[in-house]
Amino acid sequence: MKMMLTTGNVLNEAADLAILACLEDVPLAEAVAGLIEAADFSGKTGQTRLLYPRGAVLPKRLLLLGLGPADKLTAETLRRAAANAVRQARDLQVASVAFGLNDQLELAPALIGQALAEGAELGAYRYLRYKTGLKPEQTFAVEAMTLVTPGATDAMQAGVAVGQTIAGGVMLARNLVNTPPGVLTPAALADQAIALGERTGVAVTIFDKARLTEEGFGGLLAVGQGSANEPRLIVMEYGKAAEGRPTICLVGKGLTFDSGGLSLKPADAMTTMKSDMGGSAAVLGAMQVIAELQLPLHVVGLVPSAENMPSSTSYRPDDVLTTLSGKTIEVLNTDAEGRIVLADALFYAQRYNPAAIIELSTLTGAIVVALGSHATGMMGTNQELADAIKQAGETTGERVWQLPLWEEYHEMIKSEIADLKNIGGRQAGSITAGAFLAAFVGDYPFVHLDIAGTAYAEKPARPYDVAGGTGVGVRLLTEFLRQYTHGV
Ligand code: BES
Ligand code: ZN
Ligand code: ZN
Repeated sequence: MKMMLTTGNVLNEAADLAILACLEDVPLAEAVAGLIEAADFSGKTGQTRLLYPRGAVLPKRLLLLGLGPADKLTAETLRRAAANAVRQARDLQVASVAFGLNDQLELAPALIGQALAEGAELGAYRYLRYKTGLKPEQTFAVEAMTLVTPGATDAMQAGVAVGQTIAGGVMLARNLVNTPPGVLTPAALADQAIALGERTGVAVTIFDKARLTEEGFGGLLAVGQGSANEPRLIVMEYGKAAEGRPTICLVGKGLTFDSGGLSLKPADAMTTMKSDMGGSAAVLGAMQVIAELQLPLHVVGLVPSAENMPSSTSYRPDDVLTTLSGKTIEVLNTDAEGRIVLADALFYAQRYNPAAIIELSTLTGAIVVALGSHATGMMGTNQELADAIKQAGETTGERVWQLPLWEEYHEMIKSEIADLKNIGGRQAGSITAGAFLAAFVGDYPFVHLDIAGTAYAEKPARPYDVAGGTGVGVRLLTEFLRQYTHGV
């Protein structure tokens, strides 16, 4: 979508559709006051009224959009408002919309621009690739949004550009998650990373099965051995390690499909398992954004990718695997495969001597039971890092909730026959999974984000959400990293 910024009052724009975003209980311009009184509009959060002013003001249609009380206004309010605006424009088949903000908001102009751009782009997103025979009104897309405000500034314009870049990363992640698993195999995901590298200058290296075997990725190879679609490790590198340019490793689970393997999932639990690469989608999306924003960091993205299938070549319950680290894993359930592929990738991350390792995975059904779809589960070995990610969660609306990694939980995954077992029993399923991962990161500051409940939406909750892949993690990581650069 084209997004522009002009100084002025949206009521004076000859637009097919003008949006007037209004704070609650703030008196409106004379010109619309009469119209609005008749519309019973108070400006409550999310309230909308569509008016046809018939010459009382210049726009042909005027949509009043409530922002709620001034003292409760956040970036999230604006993201939702902008998403509402584009959805209304789309319903009305208006290609170019003017979005007016006349009130003085207690938010930095750059943040206003960013939030509006994120909301507009994400609200406009749809995944139509496999729909055929659509009528023009079903594919209608809003082409342009002009922000009209009394004090348009360069900072706000720059914020819009940042917001569009971030939304681009989220949409990449959504597209990857939504792509059917027969299409998005590990090799195809690797091709997506290569294409990303060509677009952005990120250096991309792919380890195929031969290379993984040579290097000893025993966990990733075992999980992938039951599928004709062979596993890959995707290594993406942005920038170079240098003084004042700390290294951050981002690790994303890339199971392009998780049938459960020989510990086969029941049919109902198997649908949506194309989203088991949601962590990798977040990492690719974030790498794109980081490169486009040229953050002053060295960021390494690692994606262990495999397809977990049942066959005569599958790894089995009772198998013992030797991982890249040399640590051994007793397999008790082949459906707890994410932690096994991540064990190798997390160990590999240590070679970069990172200031932080942040890993995202659709890891456990237990986190969906605990938190539902409204928060990502977080566990970590470094509280300062965890706190910074929690803060990014509040800012972006991609909320995280922390669970403990006490010593007792580590005890629950010790094996009789090997170093670790891949399940810890019925209790604390998300935490024992997190404890398992922590065994492979050495002493490096580590945060694990369990996005099993947040990567895929059955039912959209916010105006800028859609059913399907959410792209969760892209905005969270980007916000964390942008703040992180201020501290180095
Ligand atoms: N990919 C699943 C976790 C998952 C569940 C993601 C629901 C998204 C929605 C993971 O590989 C898995 O199957 N985990 C098992 C672990 C169990 C066998 C210990 C689970 O959570 O049931
Ligand atoms: Zn599984
Ligand atoms: Zn899985």
